[in-house]
Amino acid sequence: MCARRRRDVCHVMPHGERSTPAPINSDSHQPTEPHRQREQTSQARNRASSVIPLQSTTSREKMVAKEAMPLLTPHKLGQFNLSHRVVLAPLTRCRSYGSVPQPHAALYYSQRATKGGLLISEATDVSVTAKGYPETPGIWTEEQVEAWKPIVDAVHRKGAFFICQIWHVGRVSTNDYQPDGQAPISSTDKQITPEPDGRHDAEGGVVYSKPRRLQIDEIPAIVDDFRRAARNAIEAGFDGVEIHGAHGYLLEQFMKDSCNDRTDEYGGSLENRCRFAVEVIDAVIREVGAERVGIRLSPFVDYMDCYDSDPHALGAYMVQQLNKHRGFLYCHMVEPRMAIVDGRRQILHGLLPFRKAFNGTFIAAGGYDREEGNKVVADGYADLVAYGRLFLANPDLPKRFELGVPLNKYDRSTFYTQDPVVGYTDYPFHDGSTAE
Ligand SMILES: Cc1cc2nc3c(=O)[nH]c(=O)nc-3n(C[C@H](O)[C@H](O)[C@H](O)COP(=O)(O)O)c2cc1C
Repeated sequence: MCARRRRDVCHVMPHGERSTPAPINSDSHQPTEPHRQREQTSQARNRASSVIPLQSTTSREKMVAKEAMPLLTPHKLGQFNLSHRVVLAPLTRCRSYGSVPQPHAALYYSQRATKGGLLISEATDVSVTAKGYPETPGIWTEEQVEAWKPIVDAVHRKGAFFICQIWHVGRVSTNDYQPDGQAPISSTDKQITPEPDGRHDAEGGVVYSKPRRLQIDEIPAIVDDFRRAARNAIEAGFDGVEIHGAHGYLLEQFMKDSCNDRTDEYGGSLENRCRFAVEVIDAVIREVGAERVGIRLSPFVDYMDCYDSDPHALGAYMVQQLNKHRGFLYCHMVEPRMAIVDGRRQILHGLLPFRKAFNGTFIAAGGYDREEGNKVVADGYADLVAYGRLFLANPDLPKRFELGVPLNKYDRSTFYTQDPVVGYTDYPFHDGSTAE
């Protein structure tokens, strides 16, 4: 299945970022089923056709603005009234020195904030053992919570909503990141396979350490770390949390059968493998309420040696679990892969069964541009579209989409560097300015 197609199809970079996709045979393009037409989508189209073009735009831009722009229509996300559907995807930026969020993050996030927009924060460590990358922020100490507050305030001052993505990397770590040089924890004691040249991936060059399999009686404490992180996120002022259940990190290390080799109640059957994730979801919901909790899942993605022999069943099972919680904020899923069809990158819309099954707001991510984003919102395939690399490089992405103006190119070499400005807050707006 897709999961076995590994890196020859779509090389996934740190955090599930996809490099330029390697073409796959266009014959393998799966025709999508007719998309569910949602009432709100036709409303969206009606509203879109009445968008009033800005005075300052050229006539070509005006035409673009006047055309259907489903991405720029409102959406009610639980209690939050979004004014558009262009979401900032979670993006690790490795600039939180000593695990403490820094003042420069206030500028970075507020540059990307718009009135009624939705931002998802970079993955944020739930505990001291959760870390696997340099200078990622945490949210388990009072100092970290206090440091997040002005950042969240800066986003709120712009009128945007801000969700904190909380994660534990599990075995995607090394002893160096762990307290007292201990082994990273996981569902398993299997190490991520080092690349033959001794480097795990093209960017990080990391050989991840051999993990230590969690004992059953240790699991409740890790679940509790997620609960505490969620409480702290709300305390810091975030509007909600996104549980990181994607890209081969701890939740997936339990969920996916390439990795989970346990024989206890956390391994074996699908239900058992999902038990840890379900416990985390339940604990976080009990703490802050379903209306403040979303989740990111990537059943199809094969990253960090984490893939599943039946991603359809895995995704369907998880959606069933989410549906048990009335008012669950959103389900955010990462697209399986991209294909080149007739010379153009195309998204295969493999998430459709999950979108159909999930009762609430559905966010799609992975490889979207303006055109594909508008298409999937118009078709009812997704309610919201999360943009990673394009938003990273274009702080005013929704405005650029509205105007149809060219986009800045992202600079991959500064994705994970520690400079507080370069490659972070210095991407220009469409009018050439770099400040807010
Ligand atoms: C620099 C960078 C950092 C990322 N960090 C995270 C992260 O912290 N959490 C996460 O779930 N995904 C992370 N991702 C994946 C993105 O959220 C997104 O799914 C991916 O970039 C594909 O979307 P795109 O084609 O719009 O960029 C990261 C991607 C990049 C490029």
